[in-house]
Amino acid sequence: MQSIVRALLFCGLLAPFVAAAPQKLQKRGVFKVERVKNEKFTGRSGPKALIKAYRKFGMPLPQGLLDAMGNSGTSSVQSVSIQETNITVPAAGINETATPGTGLVTATPEANDVEYLAPVNIGGQTINLDFDSGSSDLWVFNTQLDAASTTGHQVYDPSLSQSFQLMQDQSWTIQYGDGSGAAGNVGTDVVDIGGATVTAQAVELATAVSQSFVDDTANNGLLGLAFSSINTVQPQQQKTFFDNVMPDLAEPLFTADLRANAVGAYEFGRIDNTKFTGDMTWIPVNNTQGFWQFSTDTFAVGADGASQPGAAGGQAIADTGTTLLLTSAEVVSGYYQQVPGAANNAEVGGVTFPCDSDLPDLMLDVSGMYMAKIKGSDINFAAIDNTGTECFGGVQSSPVNLQIWGDIFFKSQFVAFNGGNNTLGMAEHAV
Ligand SMILES: *[C@@H]1O[C@H](CO)[C@@H](O)[C@H](O)[C@H]1NC(C)=O
Ligand SMILES: *[C@@H]1O[C@H](CO)[C@@H](O)[C@H](O)[C@H]1NC(C)=O
Ligand SMILES: *[C@@H]1O[C@H](CO)[C@@H](O)[C@H](O)[C@H]1NC(C)=O
Ligand SMILES: *[C@@H]1O[C@H](CO)[C@@H](O)[C@H](O)[C@H]1NC(C)=O
Repeated sequence: MQSIVRALLFCGLLAPFVAAAPQKLQKRGVFKVERVKNEKFTGRSGPKALIKAYRKFGMPLPQGLLDAMGNSGTSSVQSVSIQETNITVPAAGINETATPGTGLVTATPEANDVEYLAPVNIGGQTINLDFDSGSSDLWVFNTQLDAASTTGHQVYDPSLSQSFQLMQDQSWTIQYGDGSGAAGNVGTDVVDIGGATVTAQAVELATAVSQSFVDDTANNGLLGLAFSSINTVQPQQQKTFFDNVMPDLAEPLFTADLRANAVGAYEFGRIDNTKFTGDMTWIPVNNTQGFWQFSTDTFAVGADGASQPGAAGGQAIADTGTTLLLTSAEVVSGYYQQVPGAANNAEVGGVTFPCDSDLPDLMLDVSGMYMAKIKGSDINFAAIDNTGTECFGGVQSSPVNLQIWGDIFFKSQFVAFNGGNNTLGMAEHAV
């Protein structure tokens, strides 16, 4: 999905270095991300969240969205070689003494639930990362990037780590459909997430990031939690943190507990039964594309609504790294038909409706085994402007036959990602 266009990156096609100095923000604390107002970001932006999802999955960008966002494809590139270090690290493995088979970290929503960030300790330095079940690279802002690119970001400094070791001749590139992305070199370091530790985890260090990452000052990098088959390190593909830590976990799984406007958690190695109601349903995943993917055929509007057919052969992925829920055109039209005043708004590139709408719940089929309830209140994503009259929908259509079920889905559902038997456990959140 993410094409490897490294050559383009380094040949300077992304060269114009646009150093629009981002707002200087305070560094964030260890366990909580302060909600610092970014003057350039007036609350949540629906079109911005949508365009980010389109980029990530290489989907064609509709003209309306591009117009709504202005010119947003500009990228910055810089390349700096880093000092080799001679420190040796044990082979990939687990710090048995520190790991009781589980690890728990908080997941704090940034900018009103646009991203959930969780603290990760890399070689003794704590950095808040976006845990992303829709990609498989662990990459970080670091001291190889120049000040203009890193202002407002937490930055990992490999030279301050006792355990960092550069990997020779390895590089990585995440290239999005519109030319934005990130790229860099690779080392290993000790990575500790709430006590679950990998001693030689591949940590990808950005030497080039596009402007959209520069501007997103709360995001200091990603921690990919999809399957290692789509990790982008070349020539030696690397394993995700989850794949490395799995053999040592009490149970081979992690859970995502993301809440609307509240601190949630990612937990490795155990399922906290107090977080959901009823029994968990286990859905087999199809990981041939490297995602936590399942089929979805039907939907209903309202908990007691009649079942309606969605897209034929519908496929969806559970993606904590995407904000919105992108589903089929069938679901989008069937759902918003029940919302008076809802319409596809070409000016902002998605469906909008009056902000005072009373939104029904949306029920989505998961592999014929489970109906996931998306709360209507979570589908009101954000006002499109300061008047607060018209709102952008949290449920939008995917332009390709792959639905991306992002954080709007996770707000209603507690989800376990089981790497032992490649299943997803789903249950409704306990209140
Ligand atoms: C690293 O090791 C190389 C070869 O063993 C040596 O030449 C070099 O001086 C060492 N560098 C440092 C900083 O110790
Ligand atoms: C393992 O974890 C313990 C406790 O955090 C720490 O004291 C020790 O240095 C770690 N060992 C290694 C090899 O990282
Ligand atoms: C798994 O996903 C791939 C790619 O989307 C698809 O071609 C294949 O038919 C799927 N397999 C099953 C059993 O659904
Ligand atoms: C997968 O593992 C979970 C948790 O261990 C278990 O409850 C479930 O039955 C398993 N599902 C399948 C299909 O093997």
